[in-house]
Formats: sequence, C-alpha cells, structure tokens
Amino acid sequence: FDTTYDDCWLRYERVDDSKLAPYRERLSHAYVSEGAPELGAVRAELRRGLEGMLGRELHLWQHPPRSVDSFLVIGHPEEMRPIHQTIDPDEVWDLHEDGYVIRTVEWEGHECTVVTAPSDRGLVYGTFHLLRRVALGEPIDDLDVVEEPANNSRIINHWDNPFRRSVERGYAGQSIFDWERLPDVRERYYDYARLLASVGINGVVPNNVNTGIPSRPTANDAVSERAGWQLLERDNLEKLEALASVFRRYGIRIYLSVNYAAPIKLGGLETADPHDSEVRQWWQDKVDEIYEIIPDFGGFLVKADSEGQPGPYDYDRSHAEGANVLGEAFEGHDGRVWWRAFVYSEHDDRAVQAYEAFEHIDGEFHDKVTVQIKNGPIDFQQREPVSTLFGAMPETNLGCELQLTGEYTGQGVHATSHIPMWKEVLEFDTYADGEGTPVKDVLAERDGQGIAGVGIVGEDPSWTGNHLLQSNLYGFARLCWDPDLESETIIEEWARQTFGRDEEVVDTVSEILLDSWQACIDYHTGGLGLMHMMYNGEEALENHYDPGPEEWPEYIGATADGIGVDRTSEGSGYAAQYRDPITERYDDPETCPEELLLFFHHLPWEYELEDGRTVIQTLYDNCYAGVEEVRELRAKWESLEGVVDERRHRHVAERFDEHVLQARRWRDRLCEYFYEHSGVPDEKGRVPQA
Ligand code: GCU
Repeated sequence: FDTTYDDCWLRYERVDDSKLAPYRERLSHAYVSEGAPELGAVRAELRRGLEGMLGRELHLWQHPPRSVDSFLVIGHPEEMRPIHQTIDPDEVWDLHEDGYVIRTVEWEGHECTVVTAPSDRGLVYGTFHLLRRVALGEPIDDLDVVEEPANNSRIINHWDNPFRRSVERGYAGQSIFDWERLPDVRERYYDYARLLASVGINGVVPNNVNTGIPSRPTANDAVSERAGWQLLERDNLEKLEALASVFRRYGIRIYLSVNYAAPIKLGGLETADPHDSEVRQWWQDKVDEIYEIIPDFGGFLVKADSEGQPGPYDYDRSHAEGANVLGEAFEGHDGRVWWRAFVYSEHDDRAVQAYEAFEHIDGEFHDKVTVQIKNGPIDFQQREPVSTLFGAMPETNLGCELQLTGEYTGQGVHATSHIPMWKEVLEFDTYADGEGTPVKDVLAERDGQGIAGVGIVGEDPSWTGNHLLQSNLYGFARLCWDPDLESETIIEEWARQTFGRDEEVVDTVSEILLDSWQACIDYHTGGLGLMHMMYNGEEALENHYDPGPEEWPEYIGATADGIGVDRTSEGSGYAAQYRDPITERYDDPETCPEELLLFFHHLPWEYELEDGRTVIQTLYDNCYAGVEEVRELRAKWESLEGVVDERRHRHVAERFDEHVLQARRWRDRLCEYFYEHSGVPDEKGRVPQA
C-alpha cells in the first residue's frame, strides 16, 4: 500500500518468531499457474502477504520444486501435476464458480498445500483465504477447506458523483474514482480491489444511483456540470473499461447506474417509454456497444420513479414493464439489471409503498432483472422491521440492499457496527415458504440474486472516515459470502487482522463494536421502534446527522395522549403485508417485540411494558442509557492507549469524543420532545421541565 492511506485488514504483520516455523516450512516455495490476469494478482499478493508475514522472500517456481519437502500449489484442477494426481477434478468443477478448495496433500513424498478452484476468481479467493489463515495465526498443516459463496452477486454500490468527485451520503472525503484522469488508473484502485477481493466482493457500481447533477452538493464537490448519466457515452465507456481492467484482475466486475431517460438525454429520442420500439432498440444497441468495450460488464443499476428520477411511471407503465426493456437488452450477455424497489411518494405511510408498487407484479419481471430491496421499509434507519417484500415475491429475482455508510448511524464519526443489524435482517424468518425461510435463504436460492451494499469508502486515508468503520466493509462482504457467520466471529477476525494479535486489543475492539449498535439505537430513538427523527439541514454533513424530531412528525406519531404510528392491519395496513404468523405477532402490542413496538402501534404514554415501566419512562431511560453506553465504548477505547499505535488510537479517540457529545445532544433533544408532547416528567428527574 501507498503510505498515504491505511492498509486496513491487509496489514500482513510479521508472525511472532516462536510461531514462524510451520508457516515457513510450507509457504516458502510456490508453484502457481500462469496466464489469466487474476493469476498475476495471485502471485503479487502471495509475495506481499507471505514476505510480510514470514519475513523472507517467496520462491516462485515454473514447475513443482522437487528439491524441497513442502510447497504451495495454486492452479486449476487437471492443469497442474500435484493437483490432478491428488484431488478429484470433478469435486472442484462441481463447485460454485467462485468456490475453492484448499487441501494439504501428499505427492511423491512432498507435502503440498493446494489451492484449486473452477475459475480464476476462485483462485484469487482461495489465495486470500490462505493468507487470512496465516494472519489469524491459524494452523495450516492439515488443511481441508471447501468454500462456496452463499450469494451469487456480492456488489458494492458507490453513491459517487463522477466528475464532481463527491459522494452522496459519503463521509470519508472525495470519491476515489477520478473520471477526469481516467483512463489513467491510480494505484489506489488496485488496493481497493485487493481489499474487496480479499473478502469475496465480485461487483462494483462506481456511480451514484442518482445519475443527475447532485441536488445536495457537498463540501467535497469539485463543481462540474457533467453528471452520472453521461457515463453511457462512448468516451466514458472507454474510461470505464480502464477501471474494469483493474478490477478484473481481482475477479470483480464493473456495473453502471443508468438514468431511465437516457434514450432521450443521450439518444436524442423523444421518449423513454419502454413500449416504444426505438427505445428498445436504443437500449439494445447501447448494451451491445458496452459489451464490445467491456466484455465482462456486470450490468445496470437503476433508481427509477424515486426522489425525482425518471422512470416508467412517466409513461404509465409498471416497474416490470419499465425494467424488462433493459432486461431484454441483456439477453445473450452475461449481465443483468438491478432495479431498485426504493419507491415512495406522497402517502400517509411511506412504509407500505414499496410493497404496493411491486408485490402485484411478482412474476412479471424478465429473468435478467433483479429487484433490489432495502432491508427495511423506510430508509436505512437505526433499526427497522425487515421489508415485507422479501416474503412476497417468490417468482422474482430478489436482491437485498444494505447500507455500509452510516447515513443515520453516526455517519463517518460514530463507531457503529452494522454487522449485528445485518445479521438480524438476514436471519429474519419471512415464512415465504413456510416456517424457516429466513431472508438469507430467500436470497441464496437463485443465481440471479444477491446482496448489494451502499459503499462507504472515500479518499480519506482511513478509507471509511473512522478506522473502526472499516469493519463494516469487511463484515458486509463476509456476510454476503457466508450469512451463517456470527457477528462475533466476523468482528474478531477483522480486529485481529487490523490491530494485531494482542488478545487484549482483539477482545476490547470486539466488545466495542458488538455493543455499538444497541447504543446507537438507544440515543437516536429511545429503543422502542421510533425512527426518522433527524434534522434535514442544508449542509450535507449536518443533514441527517443532528436531531430534529419536530421535522417529520408523521414518522413519530407523538400526540398529547400517546406516541407511535399505527401500522397494524387496522391502521396503515403495513403489518398485513407480512405472512402469517408475522402479521399476527406485530398486530398485537402484547406480542409485538418491544424494540419495534412504536413502529407498529400508537400507544398511550403511560402504557405499561412487560417490566412494569411505562412507555414514556422507558424512552427516557433508554435515551440516557445510550449515552452511558457510548461513554463506556469510549472508556474501552481509551484503555488501549499505548497498546494500539498512536496514530490510529488518536484518530479513533477524537471521534469518540464527538460521539459522546452527539449522543448527549440526541438524548437531550429527544427527551425534551417527549416531555413537550406527553407532559409526563421523568421519574428520575433528569429531563428538564419547561
Ligand atoms: C435516502 C438518502 C438519499 C438516497 C436515497 C436512495 O433517501 O437520503 O441520499 O439517494 O436514500 O436510496 O435512493
């Protein structure tokens, strides 16, 4: 890595002398297949990783090195001698194309560590897996690893505004993608690709879903009148190919966010009506042109009929009609269309809208279309119920959209781990196919599906604004690969690779991250299912960061007699969009989980909860608890002074100071608001009475 930015979890720190021998014995000599660009990446990574960790030069051979007892072999089955004589090629060819096998075998008296896979990308993943084992200090003497990803597509959606280099909802500086300088490529693209490939990401959308000129310019904007929709122009496609060529080395495919009105804006047509034959032809020609330039192009991402973006509603067509014209253009190409379900307009309850727009057209989407659904029905709030659509569209390819960047969870400042939240979403039982159909299974069911994450990185040396937030990038990718992994496991392996093998550091960092989500919920919401209480300021960085409960009263439902929004079957009807018995569970305040209670119910301030406390007192208590929790996180981090290197320690410590202040501001503003509406004083006398 360039010294101007952090190397995140790919630090490759030297293994302790006392533990070196078994690794050096097996990993000092390697015989690696050649040819594909990915194999160049494999060799470069082995050198960097093994030389860093084992402290001596790696010997790369053109043939199996018979003069040494033990060596590493990386290649496809059949291609290389030690492999095909010891591992049944069919076992490998039968794997998912991104899968791999790592196995210790004996060959003509040599002990070989074999990494093999059905594709070049699989070899990249297998190599990173092996390096991770060494970085984690795990044994490698008797390996038998067979890995396959649960989700076929594992994509990062950058909300980067090309030409301006700003990032919508990005809190880590400018966009790393420099369109003015492309096709010149930056070293940082390679390092970003390495980070992504090391955890199995296989797709990147480099531009914002809002493809116009940003309506909310940020401090990082380098003003330009050019906008994301122009990336479909030929010279920009050539620049895109330069980017694609970097990512390709790491098995990552490039996609594009496109504007639904492109046939008008770029093609000079009078309409973008999906039923118009010229429009069809335009999209077909455009897609064919892209594949001529970028043969492994991944596909399109589309935000249509949402927050001012054009879409099929402009022509009275449904989302299926709208998406299918694009989907058809991908017939015969290995790519697809990711069509976002984030659609809402003026309505009494925004939560019901995505379902109303999409559920009735289940089965009408082209096979080359995937409907990409945000995890919850509102918008990446601190905690939301899981979107009803995951259980409602069995005939459609579905993707889940998660947010890595912390738009509502403390932005680039608060060290809020999203990993436990994502786990909750993925484990949620949709009952789509009877009991035991969690979201993770719904997503893993078909090839045309997967998980997309709104990106978090920017030009900042930390990549993510706060060093601890690198864990969200790492954890997102690990969960896409294997949603069965536990939050604890993911966070611990991240901490070990990022901060070294000191157990005290690993334990403390893990505790901080594991507790951070609940703290975030408590001070931002009071913990009973309220949400969307933020300030909608002018400046990008205060927008959605500060408290502003008075701005969106309809999301809170505070009245003199109570609080919360009635989204039961009898109320807005949102709860009725779930399958039974979920509807039943949420409809009844007695069975509705407390953490979502006020999302589904409008209840009297003095409504008694299970532990005998009232709703209002619990809101006060949770807001106060949230601040205490953040203070504890900060104290834990402070205890690592002198143990973690000074630079990173100070960087994170400064952000914890701001975190505590901001948690207090939220607590004070929310408690004041609850008091204003309820008139019920805090039993503990903490909340000032007007
Ligand atoms: C939120 C967010 C916007 C974003 C939108 C989306 O509303 O605040 O910045 O464009 O989600 O997901 O499309």
